[in-house]
Amino acid sequence: MKLVIATRNAHKLEEIKSIFDFQHLEVLSAFDFPEIPDVIEDGNTLEANAIKKAVEISKATGCWAMADDSGLEVNVLDGAPGVYSARYAGEQCSYSDNNKKLLRELMGKKDRSAQFCTVIALSDPEGNVKTVSGKCHGLIIDELRGSTGFGYDPLFVPEGYTETFAELGSEVKNRISHRAQALQKACDEWADFISR
Ligand code: IMP
Repeated sequence: MKLVIATRNAHKLEEIKSIFDFQHLEVLSAFDFPEIPDVIEDGNTLEANAIKKAVEISKATGCWAMADDSGLEVNVLDGAPGVYSARYAGEQCSYSDNNKKLLRELMGKKDRSAQFCTVIALSDPEGNVKTVSGKCHGLIIDELRGSTGFGYDPLFVPEGYTETFAELGSEVKNRISHRAQALQKACDEWADFISR
């Protein structure tokens, strides 16, 4: 059975592949289907976007599809950037633009608590969907530290650690992250669904 991971984010793809045990599945990604346009992420929630991506990609490819929608919620900013994490600093912005904007918004703020959240959806070609979610709590520091990972990783220190995700590296991140927690639940909950 073929399963498409519905992302063109190489970092995310690598994380998902190294965390989730795909066993007998043949794993493809959106990179294998360059003719399929990007799914427009216009939902108001991570769950809505993850479901939309999984269903549209499974229908377009005729394969099973797994999609992840994630975001960083900063408590003192009322949960921003949240579902808008990718385009926090504007439509065509870079990770660096987003990180700079976040540091500006948090300047002088004492409460630095935040959480990465993710929803992962799995759709079969008929559009039957299941979802799991994961969260990782931590703090936003006031300077960029570390060079691994992607996105807000250089600003996020997970609870129980003193280094950022970008300093801790993929081995630690893939054990404790929001994505790791969701995928661990997926391993437990989806075994029967996948092997039908
Ligand atoms: P997406 O819409 O799920 O692709 O992700 C939205 C944005 O959230 C990304 O562009 C990143 O900026 C951020 N993001 C998602 N997951 C992570 C992560 O694991 N580390 C750092 N940033 C992340």
